[in-house]
Amino acid sequence: MTARTGGLEGIVVGDTAISTVGKEGVGLTYRGYDIHDLADHSSFEEVAYLLVYGALPTTAQLHAYRDKLIKFRRLPNELKAALESIPGSAHPMEVLRTGVSLLGTLESESQQYTADKISDRLIACTPSMLLYWYQFHRNNTRLDTWNSEEQSVAGYFLHLLTGKKPSDEQKRAIDTALIIYAEHEFNASTFAARVTASTESDFYSSIVSAIGTLRGPLHGGANEEAMRLIGSFKTPEQAEKGVKEMLANKVKIMGFGHRVYKISDPRSDIIKAWGEKLAEHARDGYLFAVAEIIEKVVRAEKKLFPNLDFYSATVFHFCGVPTPLFTPIFVMSRLSGWSAHILEQRAHNRLIRPEATYSGPAPRPYVPIQERGS
Ligand code: COA
Repeated sequence: MTARTGGLEGIVVGDTAISTVGKEGVGLTYRGYDIHDLADHSSFEEVAYLLVYGALPTTAQLHAYRDKLIKFRRLPNELKAALESIPGSAHPMEVLRTGVSLLGTLESESQQYTADKISDRLIACTPSMLLYWYQFHRNNTRLDTWNSEEQSVAGYFLHLLTGKKPSDEQKRAIDTALIIYAEHEFNASTFAARVTASTESDFYSSIVSAIGTLRGPLHGGANEEAMRLIGSFKTPEQAEKGVKEMLANKVKIMGFGHRVYKISDPRSDIIKAWGEKLAEHARDGYLFAVAEIIEKVVRAEKKLFPNLDFYSATVFHFCGVPTPLFTPIFVMSRLSGWSAHILEQRAHNRLIRPEATYSGPAPRPYVPIQERGS
């Protein structure tokens, strides 16, 4: 099997009632709702509830859900101590992977900590985990703002990051990113979570598998790489020349292309509009023009379109988020989709265990170590 025919490309590996990706050419729906409607009219908390609990919440259900998430923000002391002992030089995705795993030993899945409760708990406390570690190592501060006045996950994240009240525009930009990052069918990290769930392992183990899988630059890590590229150019002219050279040297441009979408990524225009809006007030707003030139060159030279990660990078950057924290935002959001898939896998479980075409040596006799030479 060659690399090109591998990767399970085009293979249907299961059923899902959670989302459709690219089925109508370019479409993306969560439980039947178009992503554009959700991005325009809903909030991340509504979408997380929709994914995990299966239906849009009523007003009362949404209030109760928001209150629960606020209550679940606080971190156990043992976890705070562990976050302090993780080196400041660690990658934030390593911090989340470790933090979720440790929480799984303190609040292991049980009758007290049921799967849906763990899902709510993780959505609520990953911003706390990430930024407790971040502020401790960057600013020598022990965060204790669990009762932040910010009601939303987006606002809470920005508050913990900056220590200030975020603007409504920034909050809505991050909230929109959280909505459109929340779910994407059988992508690599969700598939990893389902494989782990299919062995009847615990909820935290599935999430840890997913976080490790999301980190790679071919998946969630692409937004960080996209920002490093955009930020490396001072002018659109420089970007045009530089990206043409990269493509001539067969270098992949992170944030472009997609395994399933063939025409465009329906999430890209939504997040691009936010990038353009935020650029108007940003100190380095010229980076949006740089990003647009990169898009133009990659479209012209490779016929490739930007995926969600490319312009998300500009949005996160203009909201003051340091680049290494980009993929963790993806985690904060995708936890809702992963949770929905773990619950769905459990509800109709069969062990996921595919087969491989063998390409190694033919059967041969064992050679004792004394006869193998030095
Ligand atoms: N930049 C430059 N060329 C790209 C490219 C990119 N971002 N994405 C794909 N290509 C090219 C490949 O080099 C290959 O060209 P070739 O036929 O000349 O060898 C061809 O397009 C097919 O790419 P391939 O990597 O085999 O497609 P895939 O379906 O396996 O990969 C991605 C899908 C998403 C992994 C791929 O497009 C990619 O690596 N993109 C960058 C990472 C990224 O943004 N990931 C986030 C995805 S949401």
